[in-house]
Amino acid sequence: MELGEVILRRRMVRAFEDRPVDPEVVDRMLEHALHAPSAGFSQGWAFLVLTEPHDRKRFWDAVFPDRSDAGFVHQGLFGAGCVIVPLSHKQAYLDRYAEPDKGWTDRDEGRWPVPYWDIDTGMATMLILLTAVDEGLGALFFGIFPQHVDSFREAFGVPSAYTPIGAVAVGHRAPDVPSPSLRRGRRGTDEVVHRGRWRSPT
Ligand SMILES: Cc1cc2nc3c(=O)[nH]c(=O)nc-3n(C[C@H](O)[C@H](O)[C@H](O)COP(=O)(O)O)c2cc1C
Repeated sequence: MELGEVILRRRMVRAFEDRPVDPEVVDRMLEHALHAPSAGFSQGWAFLVLTEPHDRKRFWDAVFPDRSDAGFVHQGLFGAGCVIVPLSHKQAYLDRYAEPDKGWTDRDEGRWPVPYWDIDTGMATMLILLTAVDEGLGALFFGIFPQHVDSFREAFGVPSAYTPIGAVAVGHRAPDVPSPSLRRGRRGTDEVVHRGRWRSPT
């Protein structure tokens, strides 16, 4: 597929057939993720990859202990053949930028304009989403909410230095219900793009 087509076709898919994802496709998604840019080439990210049914069940038990809480939009989610949890590692950035070519030896978080560790992990995650589309699969990025992060860490032995920025469910698409959020409509370039100078909305 052409890049433009992949981008325009991408949308969050929330229902999947209960069958595995080709391991080669999983590898390709991860390989592409590792080509994301990262500040100082810190690459302070990690990806927990769950393809075995018992691992995926452990994941859903940790983050959606009561499946009915997931709402009608998400009931088809749990069959996804692969779950990838991208995690950001802030300390890798603080350490990288304390190196001589950067020189922020105080490791002061106040120096960071925005949390690059989360930005970079998000960029890598987008490459996973786009690769899924290119492979004819569907994917959903969704949040892991604060009350479930400890049980998630415990279930998979994830160290506290790594923060899950969310999770990606990938699989063979089944018919799904569009998110009610889409009723908001897509904002147009006229509204969000400011050419030459900031232009307030009229
Ligand atoms: C940071 C982030 C968090 C999101 N969290 C959820 C979520 O928890 N559950 C969900 O169904 N969709 C989630 N979404 C998907 C958005 O609802 C979706 O991207 C948006 O409605 C636009 O739809 P589209 O991606 O299909 O174009 C999330 C998207 C982003 C970028």
